[in-house]
This record gives sequence, C-alpha cells and structure tokens, in this order.
Amino acid sequence: MKITFKKDFMLGVATAATQIDGGEVNSNWNQWYHLGKIKDGANPAIANDHYQRVRDDLKLMHDLGIQTYRFGVEWARLEPSPGQFDETVFAHYRQEIQMMLDYGIKPLLTLYHFSHPQWFEDQGGFLSAAAPAVFMRYIDQCLLHFADLVDEYITINEPNVYALEGYFFKEWPPGHHSTRECFKIMSILASLHIMTYQRIHDTIQDRPVRVSFAHHLRVFTPEKPRSLYQKHLTAIVQRAFQDALTQACFFGKFSLPLTNPLHLVRGIYVDFIAINYYTRTTISGLKDGTRANSDCNDLGWEIYPQGIVDVAQQLYALLPLDIYITENGTCDRQDTFRSRYIYEHLLALFQSELPIKRYYHWTFIDNFEWIEGENAPFGLVIGDFKHQVRTVKQSGRFYKQLIIDHGVSEETYRIYVEPQTYNRAAPR
Ligand code: BGC
Repeated sequence: MKITFKKDFMLGVATAATQIDGGEVNSNWNQWYHLGKIKDGANPAIANDHYQRVRDDLKLMHDLGIQTYRFGVEWARLEPSPGQFDETVFAHYRQEIQMMLDYGIKPLLTLYHFSHPQWFEDQGGFLSAAAPAVFMRYIDQCLLHFADLVDEYITINEPNVYALEGYFFKEWPPGHHSTRECFKIMSILASLHIMTYQRIHDTIQDRPVRVSFAHHLRVFTPEKPRSLYQKHLTAIVQRAFQDALTQACFFGKFSLPLTNPLHLVRGIYVDFIAINYYTRTTISGLKDGTRANSDCNDLGWEIYPQGIVDVAQQLYALLPLDIYITENGTCDRQDTFRSRYIYEHLLALFQSELPIKRYYHWTFIDNFEWIEGENAPFGLVIGDFKHQVRTVKQSGRFYKQLIIDHGVSEETYRIYVEPQTYNRAAPR
C-alpha cells in the first residue's frame, strides 16, 4: 500500500447550502447576483438544484462510499422574515439528516457558511447591535430541530475569509472596504462562535457532542527568505489573517487586531481542530500571491501539500485535539490533477504523527463557487447546471476506491495518480 489509513479515520465530502441547494431564496448571495456581481453571471438560484434532488444526491454519496458528510442549512430559507421560521424547511433538512443516518453517513452540520437572509443584511448584518441576539435566535431554532439527530457541529465557516472578502476586498456582499469593519466582523464572528459553542453544549447534555469552527488556514512565506522586510510583513499578514483568530476562537483570547466585543471570558471553545486548507501564499511586499514556477490549480492557487501538515502542526501545538480536515480540494476544470492533489495531501497527512480523524473533500459536486459562479469546478461529480445530470468524474472513482481500500493501493496509485501532472505558475 502507498498509504494505509488509520483505523478510526473517515473520508467524507463537504458542501455548503448556498452553493448547491438552488432556489430563489432571499439571501445576501441571491441579492449579490441580482446586483450583477457574479463574474460569469451565474445565478445561485440554479446551483445544483440539490434542495429538490437531495434524495438522489445522498444515494450517489452512498454509492461512492462516503462515510461522513459536512453539509449546511440555509438560514435565509429557514427564517425568510425576521423571527418567522419555516417549519417545512426544517422538516426538509431533518429528512435529509435522517437519510444520511439511514445510509450510515455521519453528519457534520455547518450552521453558518457565508450566507444569511437579506433582511439581516439590510439591518447592517453582523455589524448591527441586534446581530448577536438575532443570530442566537437562529441557532436556537436549529438546535430545537436538529439537536436530537446531529452530534457534530461547525458553528461558523471561515470567519477570516468572510470578513476579508466582504469588508476589505469588496468582492463579496456587502462589498465594503474598511480595515476597521473587517476586523470588527472577525471579532464578532469569533464571539458568536464561542456563544454558539456554549449554547450547543448547554442544549445537548445527554450525550457527547463535538463542536468547532472551520478555520481557513494558509501557509504564508516570504518570497525571499533572507529579506527582513518580507519576513516581517509575512508575520504581520499571518497574524492578521489567521493567528489572532485562532487565539480568539480556541481560547477566547482577543488581541490586536481583534477586540472582544461581547466581553467573553477565556476558556477552551473547540472540541476538535477543524482546518480548511487549500494553498500557500507568497509575500513579496504589498503584492502577495502565487510563487513563481510553482505547481498551481486552474485559479492560479499554488498546490503545496506539505502546507496541510504545517498548519495542522501549528494548531496542534497550541491545543492537542483530534484534527478534522473540514475542507481540502482544488479547482481543476479537466479533472486532470485532482486525484494527484488528493493523494499528495493525504500522503503528507499520514506521514505525520498527527491524530487526523477526518478528511472532507471539497467538494462533492461542481457548484456555485461564490463570486466565480459556475466556472470554478472543485467537485468529484460534474456539475451540469443545465440538465442537472450527475456524472462521477475519474477523481470521484479514485475517491471511492480509497474508501473501499481504506488507503491507497499501488494499483490505484498507478491508474489514477501516476499519469497526472499539475499546471505550472507563470514566472513573476
Ligand atoms: C469555502 C468554500 C469554497 C472553497 C473554494 C472555502 O474557502 O469555505 O465555500 O467553495 O473555499 O473556494
């Protein structure tokens, strides 16, 4: 065997409701589309029509052998107007969870993944004074309806990416550009993570539950390792992007550039380490990006498998808990290097001594990839947005084989991985 997985290790897939469900819901992302902000004009109301096709999609996951599924629910659908919750939508998601359980697929529920009702946005989103109460009301309803079925939760997905894209780079709703707002949002989301963590544990006391937040981590590196200026800058960027947030969400320790807006006390606020890892960022001054001549994907992101271990080690050194890779995947339009990408990241993980318990591939099916629309396929299954036919890619068959073998055999490696090569990034 090229890789043998540990006994209690599980392979899964991850998705987010807004990216696959479809339907004209009144969310900040549907609104962003109506404002003409999606690069290829794709409409999230289409996506994978998964809301209607959930039965078939779960059957397909089961056919692929998927052992655990990280999925999300759409807040805007559950609470279409303030304080008015839609019981039929809760019933729908409950049925979905029940189907997973019937198939023996372990659910990992994400409660917030970049998307909320437009009425919440109109009130000022997370910056409004009412936001914590409104958010916790939504969380309480989710727990009321799902807590008996779900043992594992992600509170909030990638607070750093949401804050930066929406409040600094202007790319995502609400499209602001303010350093102050950006770090305020990050601080509020970290606080809401802690409150949600506590609320889940307060609510479910009859059995063990596990809660964390999905942290988007990168490896940051100076382009010229001997440049003091670049080294300094790299440390600042890394701290602002991820390290301060780790301290806040893990320990309730808020330090600059973050603040403690809800005056929370210190403690430990994760039961496992949840990592979303995609790439390394090279810092060369005010311009940062992809290292010259490196391997890269179709969005130009560097492919750097060792990085998944580097970031996991950094967090494990702070808090030695089980590690779930809650997202890892790549944009590969022709599916010509995805299997190699998966293999190399798993290899790096299993060559380390870290307690890696889960790997959730991002993603099950090519989906509505936020601002990129329908033009950034990360799936193991083809996203046919027109006819909604599901076709498993070669990488999907590879993934299935890994689950069957609980590792990567020599033969599987020879068939799926050996022939594959990555793109090469342009010289700078
Ligand atoms: C997000 C996903 C997204 C993926 C690929 C992650 O940052 O959580 O929603 O699709 O990256 O861009």
